[in-house]
Amino acid sequence: MCGIVGYVGTQQASPILMDGLARLEYRGYDSAGLAVHDGKQIHIHRAAGKLSALRAVLASEPMNGTCGIGHTRWATHGAPSEQNAHPHAWGKVVVVHNGILENHAQLREQLLKQGHKFSSQTDTEILAHLIDDELKDVTLEQAVTRALKKVNGTYALAVLCTDFSDRLVVAKNASPLVLGIGEGENLIASDIPALLAYTRDVIFMEDEELALITAQGVKIENFSGEQIERSPKRVNWTPMMAEKGGHKHFMHKEIHEQPRALADTLAGRLNSDHRDVTLDLFKMSDTDIKKLNRILIVACGTSWHAGLVGKFLMEALARIPVETDLASEFRYRKPLVGKDDLVVAISQSGETADTLAAVREAKDLGTNLLAICNVLDSSIPRACEHALYTHAGPEIGVASTKAFTTQIAALVMLALRLGRARGVLQDATAQHIVDALSALPEIIEKALEHEDAIARIARTFSSARDFLYVARGINYPIALEGALKLKEISYIHAEGYPAGELKHGPIALIDEHMPVVAIATKNKSYDKVLSNLAEIKARDGKIIALCSEPDDRIRELAQFIIQVPTTIIELEPMINVIALQLLAYHVADFNGTDVDQPRNLAKSVTVE
Ligand code: G6P
Repeated sequence: MCGIVGYVGTQQASPILMDGLARLEYRGYDSAGLAVHDGKQIHIHRAAGKLSALRAVLASEPMNGTCGIGHTRWATHGAPSEQNAHPHAWGKVVVVHNGILENHAQLREQLLKQGHKFSSQTDTEILAHLIDDELKDVTLEQAVTRALKKVNGTYALAVLCTDFSDRLVVAKNASPLVLGIGEGENLIASDIPALLAYTRDVIFMEDEELALITAQGVKIENFSGEQIERSPKRVNWTPMMAEKGGHKHFMHKEIHEQPRALADTLAGRLNSDHRDVTLDLFKMSDTDIKKLNRILIVACGTSWHAGLVGKFLMEALARIPVETDLASEFRYRKPLVGKDDLVVAISQSGETADTLAAVREAKDLGTNLLAICNVLDSSIPRACEHALYTHAGPEIGVASTKAFTTQIAALVMLALRLGRARGVLQDATAQHIVDALSALPEIIEKALEHEDAIARIARTFSSARDFLYVARGINYPIALEGALKLKEISYIHAEGYPAGELKHGPIALIDEHMPVVAIATKNKSYDKVLSNLAEIKARDGKIIALCSEPDDRIRELAQFIIQVPTTIIELEPMINVIALQLLAYHVADFNGTDVDQPRNLAKSVTVE
C-alpha cells in the first residue's frame, strides 16, 4: 500500500507534497515523511503516526525548495516508527517506495559485507544504497535502472539526488504510479486525487518503466532505455470531488453521494426502448456471448461481495453458470478457465494486487476478460480486453460504499446485456428491470431519509461486542457486507450468515446480548426469514429488522425496525445496503473510532 508523491516546479514543494499526502493518507497512515532539495542539499523530515505528526514537525522546521518527494506508510517490513518511515537516504540518494522487495534480505547482506550501514528495518532502504552505488559516470536514470535490475518485487519509486535540484526519477513495477502534467511544473503520485488540485492531465506509468521528471516535462523510457511516447489523458474528476464538502467524514459524504454515483453509472447506458443496455467498452458480440459456457468473477473485500450479488443476477437473468471467487484464492488454485469463459474482475481501485494477479493468471489461460472498475485506465482494466467503468467518482473513505452500489448497478447491466444476447431475457422482463434502474437514484434518496432513525438504533447498540447479520438469497451478500462495514470501522466483531444456516451453528451464539440484523424485506424469502427470526427471538436475541413496510408479524418479532423503500428483487441489494452502511457509520461515529482511516486497514491493497 503506502502513498508516494513528488513535485518539481517553481512553487514551494513542501505544501504541495503535504496536500498530496493528505489525499493519499487512505493508502496508509502509520508514518510519513518528506524530502526537499533546497538547491544545495536534500533535507528530510519524518514522523511516526498520522500526517498531523509530520505537519507539526514542518511547522517548527519549514522546508525550502521547489523539488521534493513524500510518502505515507502502511508498514510491511519494520515497525511503524520514525526510523522506518520514508524517505530513506544513503550517499547522494533519497528514495520513497510503495511495494515489496522480495530479495531485500539477500541484498542487504551483500551490501553490509561491502561496508554499507543501514538505519532502518525496511526493504526500501536497500534501494538508496543500490542506486548510490551505481552513480558513477552514468545519469541518475541509468543508475536507477541498473539498481532495479538487481531487485525482485513490486515498486512505485521516486528518487531524489543531491547532484540535481531540478529533477526526480520515478519507476514502476506492479504498484500504481501516475504522472500529473502541469504548466511549468510536474507531479507524480500513487493515485489521481493527489494531483487534482494542480492538474487533470495525467499519464499512467506502465510496469518496468522509468521517467525523468523536471519542471519542463517528463521523459518516459523502458528498462532497456528506449524512449516511450505517451500523451496525457484528461480525467473528469474535479478537486471538489475529493473534498469532504461539509460532511464530518468522507465515508458519510460517500454514502450520501450514492444517488448521484448511481445516476452517473447508469447515464447513457439504458437504451431508450428500455429493453437493453449499451456497454461501450464491453465489446463481445452477441455471437461470442452465446458461445460462453461460464462466468467467473474474481475480486477482494467489498468488491467480492458485489461479485456474490453478481452471481445471483447473472444466473437469474442470463441463465449462465457463475462462480464468484476470492482473487487471492483463485490465483493459487490452478483454476480451470478457457476461451469459452468470461472472467469478470471487480475492483474499485483497479490496483488490488491479488485481483490483478488473478487477471494475469486468467489471461495466460486464454480466457475473455472484463474489468468492472472505478478508476479509469488503472492496472486491472488495462490488463483486460473489456471494461465496464463505474462512475462513482473518487472514493476516499477506506470502507467502500458508493463503489459497491455502483458495482452492483454495473452487474445488473451486464446481466441484462448477457441475457438479451443469449435470448433468454424477454422484452417485458428487461423493460421491467430497466424501468426500475431508471428510478433507482430516487429510491436511494428515500433510503437515505431514514438516517436519523438508524442513528438512534446505532447508539442503542454501540457497546455490543458482537453482531450477527442474516439474510437470504440475493440479500445474503448484503448481510456479509453489512457485517464487514461494522467490523472495518467500529472494530466490533460481526458475522454475516445466510438465515437458513443459522440453525447449523451460529444459533448457539444467540442470547440476550446478541444483536441480530435481519434483512426481512417483502420478497419470496420473506416467510422463511420470519421463521428464522422467530427462532432468534425464542433465544432472546435482539432483532433489528430491515423491512419494506412494518407489519404485525415483524413488529411481534423485532425490537427495532428500519424501513427501506421497495423495489424489484434484483435491485434490493443496492437499497438494503444503504441502511447497513449508515448503521455501521453511526456505531463507529458514536464510539469515536477513526471512520475514514480505520486501524490496520488501507484502501488500496497493492501488496499480497
Ligand atoms: C481493501 C479495502 C476494501 C476493498 C478491497 C478491494 O481491503 O479496504 O474496502 O473492498 O481492498 O479493493 P478494490 O479496489 O479492488 O475494490
